[in-house]
Amino acid sequence: MKLLYIQASPRKAKSHCLAIGDALAEAWQRYNPEATITRRNVFETAMPEADYDAVEARYLTLSGQPVPEGTEESWRQAEAEALNFASHDRYIIATPMWNYHLPYKLKHYLDLIFQPGITVRASASYDQAVKSKRVCFVLSRGGMYSPGSPLDFQRPYLAHLFDRLGFTSANLHWLIIEPTADTPQNIKDLHTIKIAEALTLAKEF
Ligand SMILES: Cc1cc2nc3c(=O)[nH]c(=O)nc-3n(C[C@H](O)[C@H](O)[C@H](O)COP(=O)(O)O)c2cc1C
Repeated sequence: MKLLYIQASPRKAKSHCLAIGDALAEAWQRYNPEATITRRNVFETAMPEADYDAVEARYLTLSGQPVPEGTEESWRQAEAEALNFASHDRYIIATPMWNYHLPYKLKHYLDLIFQPGITVRASASYDQAVKSKRVCFVLSRGGMYSPGSPLDFQRPYLAHLFDRLGFTSANLHWLIIEPTADTPQNIKDLHTIKIAEALTLAKEF
């Protein structure tokens, strides 16, 4: 079993979503000692640019045409990101809300791994296998967003994208940390509650 833990806050030890994501990852590892966890902070690791060559190669591949010599490199890098994503069984995606949506580095990562033929409309065997993959989104927000709030472009976007990636809705899990713009005592209490939720989820994740 392989778990990919995508971290999308640059705030290191001060980050709310990373604190709860770490608690989930560590508890899950205790239940799955043979499993491997790969941690990737999108603010700290290089990602290939979705530049002209990479995007052109994507259109060419989609229409069944060969990718021209010399433009292959950036496409291969993007393809490698998608293949690496596809090779995992469990995912934790820990991200703050930025301007009602995702931090731009996470959007960059998601644009790289959302690749027709690799993670979307892939082989019949992959499309079957993805149904047993699970993801937990650990979302931190300064404010409070009721379910269905028209201001929340974070959760509905992720739910839709992972539906398109073939995940079943029962395999999408959510740990929502809000509001983080609060008193130190309330934040401490919020962390206690969310860590307990993470520990419960870790048993079945
Ligand atoms: C650039 C930026 C934009 C933000 N935009 C929002 C926002 O639209 N809505 C909100 O509720 N909080 C917003 N926040 C606050 C963060 O979501 C909040 O502080 C969150 O807990 C940060 O998570 P972290 O500690 O894991 O990085 C923003 C913070 C930053 C740095």
